[in-house]
Amino acid sequence: MSIRNDIERILIGEEQLHDRVNTLGEWIAREYAGRPLLLVGVLKGAVPFMADLARAIDAPVEMDFMAVSSYGNTMHSQGFVRILKDLDESITNRDVLLVEDIIDTGLTLSYVLNLLRQRAPASLRVCALLNKQKVHAKHIHPDYVGFSVQDEFVVGYGLDYAQRYRNLPFIGVLKPELYRDEK
Ligand code: IMP
Ligand code: MG
Repeated sequence: MSIRNDIERILIGEEQLHDRVNTLGEWIAREYAGRPLLLVGVLKGAVPFMADLARAIDAPVEMDFMAVSSYGNTMHSQGFVRILKDLDESITNRDVLLVEDIIDTGLTLSYVLNLLRQRAPASLRVCALLNKQKVHAKHIHPDYVGFSVQDEFVVGYGLDYAQRYRNLPFIGVLKPELYRDEK
């Protein structure tokens, strides 16, 4: 039961992901030289990206995670965000880099950023693997972006459809017949 059979088209292959993540890691290490960095991952989508990104940063890094809900199991934003799991550690006076899988409407990220800003970090930046950014979306300007993508639903490398496909090592588009009647 290969999950690869469910993919219609590969958008970003393994090697391309690997190269770009390494470039981002080197860039981040240079920019934060001498400033220990706290990577904050948004569960669960950012996990594969953050694991690779952290290993591409050759400098002191700590990791923490938070979980928020915005989509439920469907493909459309519900228009609200809820905290399911908060950070374990204080971020006050820390250099924080928020790591996200994808910015779509920007709703999730703008909520999380506002929340973290209130805790007075020394700095707060955003690293998103994918930037979709719809026309009428909230405008978020991520400091580091892996790839810009078209407005189409993608899965793999952390991104799910109904909690599946996060373990694909590449990013792709599902066969249309796999989506329930919600598009
Ligand atoms: P936003 O709040 O609309 O920016 O959505 C952000 C979240 O929605 C991401 O962290 C993903 O979990 C999910 N999401 C948005 N677009 C996609 C997609 O194309 N594939 C899978 N998940 C997505
Ligand atoms: Mg999701």
